[in-house]
Amino acid sequence: MPLLEVDQLVVRFDTPDGAVEAVNGISFSLEPSEVLAIVGESGSGKSQSVLSIMGLLAANGRCSGSVRYRGEEILNLPTAQLNLFRGDRISMIFQDPMTSLNPYLTIARQMVEVLVLHKGMSEAEARRTALEMLDAVHIPDARGRIDRYPHEFSGGMRQRVMIAIALLCRPDLLIADEPTTALDVTVQAQILELLSEIRREFGTAIILITHDLGVVAGSSDRALVMYGGQLMEYGTLDEIFHHSRHPYTRGLLRSVPRLDQPGLRRLATIPGNPPSLLALPAGCPFAARCEYQEPRCLRERPAAERFSESHIKACHRSMLP
Ligand SMILES: Nc1ncnc2c1ncn2[C@@H]1O[C@H](COP(=O)(O)OP(=O)(O)O)[C@@H](O)[C@H]1O
Ligand SMILES: [Mg+2]
Repeated sequence: MPLLEVDQLVVRFDTPDGAVEAVNGISFSLEPSEVLAIVGESGSGKSQSVLSIMGLLAANGRCSGSVRYRGEEILNLPTAQLNLFRGDRISMIFQDPMTSLNPYLTIARQMVEVLVLHKGMSEAEARRTALEMLDAVHIPDARGRIDRYPHEFSGGMRQRVMIAIALLCRPDLLIADEPTTALDVTVQAQILELLSEIRREFGTAIILITHDLGVVAGSSDRALVMYGGQLMEYGTLDEIFHHSRHPYTRGLLRSVPRLDQPGLRRLATIPGNPPSLLALPAGCPFAARCEYQEPRCLRERPAAERFSESHIKACHRSMLP
């Protein structure tokens, strides 16, 4: 049985200007221990997709569709029931660890609290477990640092602490929303390596959200490409990187630096801007920027079409040159 099955997930926000159509019917599934990357430009609905799963939408947000965790429906559950999953079985980390860490409490306090509350551990047992987890995420001298405050850690170390806290209850799904975007390239690579290690050692499934397709290679099993709140393409890394059937994915690929083609080759960016989610076009959201646009692309939204066991795309063009 899949760990997570998301079916036709829709997220809307009511605003004085009308409804913001943030997520428009995306579907995907995740096997235990699988790493899925959700990729797309800023504003494509990546964060709201996972926030709706966690029951963390802003007050003006509503969601519909279905999200099953080990077969059990969890979308729109009342808070008390959701709390049985959140933190314990599904946990989430964000781009800026300071939004989740309490600046006034030591790392020890924050970690011990989680374990006492969720696992009913004694203080001593919780502290021991917290230290083990800080060691597991490679915080050097965890014993000497556990009683420090968040601001006494560097950005990369704070992100490690955040990951340690997220893993305290041994969740089987970790959702990481742009966990490396605020970090410099070297630290970024270290955090991605840490996520791979966590999957190997704890068997944790991971949803890795990023705007950078370059981050996906080497750290994920499958990727889902989103644009304008819709699924554009979904497949294994090999399918996405080497057999992409979608013009948007191809555009993203052209903007990724390639190690096998070194030199000063200028990276292509896709001309134009994403559509406003307040007034989505009738057809494909990407049509206005698409070099393969046909008349029907402006009229009809392409349905998600499966053309192999694992590969799905939403595009009217059946073949690309
Ligand atoms: N509370 C809200 N009210 C109205 N619109 C919102 C709200 N929260 C997010 N949005 C809109 O939802 C869209 C998708 O946002 P998001 O999922 O954060 O994009 P991404 O994570 O891909 O950058 C954006 O256009 C954003 O402005
Ligand atoms: Mg986001």
